Amino acid sequence: MNETIRTSFVKQVGWCDRMGSALYAELVQAALDNLDAGGPVRDIVAGYEGDALSDALPLRFMGGIHRLVLDGKAPQLAGHFPTVGGTPYQPTLVKDFLDVVDDNTDYLIDAQQVAPQTNEIGRSAALLPGLAYALDNRSLQIRLLEIGSSAGLNLLADRYHYRSDHWTWEGSVDAPVITFDWAGSVPSFPERFEIVERRGCDLSPLDASDPEAQIRLLSFVWADQPGRFQRLKAALEMVQPGDVSLNKADAASWVEERVLEPTAPGVMTVLQHSVMWMYLSEESRSTILAAMEHAGARATNERPLAHVRFESAPEQYDAEGHRLTVTTWPDREERVLAWGHAHGTWVRWTQR
Ligand SMILES: C[S@@+](CC[C@H](N)C(=O)[O-])C[C@H]1O[C@@H](n2cnc3c(N)ncnc32)[C@H](O)[C@@H]1O
Repeated sequence: MNETIRTSFVKQVGWCDRMGSALYAELVQAALDNLDAGGPVRDIVAGYEGDALSDALPLRFMGGIHRLVLDGKAPQLAGHFPTVGGTPYQPTLVKDFLDVVDDNTDYLIDAQQVAPQTNEIGRSAALLPGLAYALDNRSLQIRLLEIGSSAGLNLLADRYHYRSDHWTWEGSVDAPVITFDWAGSVPSFPERFEIVERRGCDLSPLDASDPEAQIRLLSFVWADQPGRFQRLKAALEMVQPGDVSLNKADAASWVEERVLEPTAPGVMTVLQHSVMWMYLSEESRSTILAAMEHAGARATNERPLAHVRFESAPEQYDAEGHRLTVTTWPDREERVLAWGHAHGTWVRWTQR
């Protein structure tokens, strides 16, 4: 077994701890101890051929475990998993976990082929105010484009309900509620967002109405984050076929093609993205920014353009801080508007 596999488990324990998942920190540690002792975890991961660190092998493993629980195939362990109504019970937690590992080695070997993929609608608590800011009190229709969409759930940002001490928003009747802490001033929101197109791309787009895609997304939410889990479940249940249109495509070539497509007067084209920029090469990032500048040079007050993104800012990264930045054209203006938690649990608006 290569040393990177072991290192990936060691590092994952610390990441789970820092990201607030005591349950996963404990279970990944138990998996690591089992691996070191030459137990079934060693047999499961030993043949892994990818780069265990960059592929997040421990999260693939835990995704497989969570999926067994969600599929009803691990009832004892389910009693410890808050996403299915359980409560971690220390005296039996590790034993129940290792029993599931022992009974499902082939399944867990296969599960390692499934790359972790999430779609976090909490990020809409930053993206939607960014969109409101870009609109700037104008009554424009919006053509919303998104790269790294996953299942496209953030293309439906205006449909969710939002609850904070500083602002609220009423979405569709059947939509989930996003609750978060807000600090700072609040941008001016329109009465409603008139979004005439919702189109996204992803290297691996997921159809939110496909049960297989649903369970895949749900299985990668950490099992002691039931709020996130229920919110995602509700969003997946809300989506109807045709609500969003997703292409299987690389972000750079897709943006080049889409942002220059002609629009009617009175329509603002908006490119949005969240927590995907770090996956792009320097070349892809430059291609996208150049395509936006090119389209921006053609933008007019009747056909404006905006770039709304909520992405980690490595140079100022403070464990949880993601930055909301908005660029608008034709009169090119770029502003850092806010900072927020990666899952949108808090947003601090810094723009006056
Ligand atoms: C961490 S997820 C974020 C998904 C979504 N934006 C959100 O905030 O919930 C990153 C997504 O980016 C996609 N992705 C990574 N590289 C990409 C690329 N070059 N082109 C398009 N999508 C990409 C992944 O497949 C994945 O769905």
